[in-house]
Amino acid sequence: MSLIIAVDGPAASGKGTIAARLARTYGLPHLDTGLLYRAVGVKLLEAGRSLDDEAAATEAARSLDVAGLSDDPRLTTGEAGEAASRVAGHPGVRAALLDLQQAFAAQAVGAVLDGRDIGTVIAPDAPAKLFVTATPEVRATRRWRQLTARGFDIGFEEMLADIQRRDARDAGRGAAPMVQAEDAVLLDTTDMDIEAAFDAARRIVETARAKHGL
Ligand code: C5P
Repeated sequence: MSLIIAVDGPAASGKGTIAARLARTYGLPHLDTGLLYRAVGVKLLEAGRSLDDEAAATEAARSLDVAGLSDDPRLTTGEAGEAASRVAGHPGVRAALLDLQQAFAAQAVGAVLDGRDIGTVIAPDAPAKLFVTATPEVRATRRWRQLTARGFDIGFEEMLADIQRRDARDAGRGAAPMVQAEDAVLLDTTDMDIEAAFDAARRIVETARAKHGL
C-alpha cells in the first residue's frame, strides 16, 4: 500500500493549503481536483454554453487538457468556483473525470488529492483521510480577506451567501455529494490559524502512517 492522503471539505476550509503542505512534507505529488471542475465550468462559460447542458459539460470534461491548470488565473475567480459547483452536479462530468483522478491516486509513490469526494469515491481505500471544515462565517471571512487583498470588490455578506449556497449545492447533489467519509478524521479549523491546522493535519497523517505501517 502507498501513502494516499485524501483531503476533503468545503470551500475556504483550509484544505487546499493543508494538502499542498502535506505534499511538500512527504514529497508526494498533489492534485487539487477542484481545478478540474473549475476548468470544465470556465470552458463552458467561454464557449457561451449553459452550465446546465450536461452533454456539453461532459464533452468538455472528456477533452480536458490538465497541463497548466494550476497556473491558470482564470480558474481562481469566484465565478469559476460557482461554475465548477454547477457542472460538478452532472454525473457525466464526474464519470469523465474519474479515471484521471484514480490514476493520479494510484501512483506508486503515493499522492495527495484534495476535493469533495476523494475519501468517498476517488480513493475509498486511502490510508489517510481528512475532512477539513470550519464555520461558514470563518470560511467567508478568510475568502473575503483573500479576494479583497487581491483587489476584488466584494461585500462580506455576499461572500457568506456564496459560500452557503455552494455548500448546500455540493452537499445536496445526488452525484458524489460532499460528505465526510466514515473513516475520515474531522479537522475543524474554525479556531486555528494555518500553522495550527497544518500541525493537526500532520498528526492525523502520522497516526494513519503508523497504523498502516507506511
Ligand atoms: O475546491 P474548489 O473550490 O476549487 O472546488 C470548486 C467546486 O468543484 C466545488 O464547489 C465542487 O462543486 C466541485 N468539486 C467537486 N468534487 C471535487 C472537487 C471539487 O465536486 N473533488
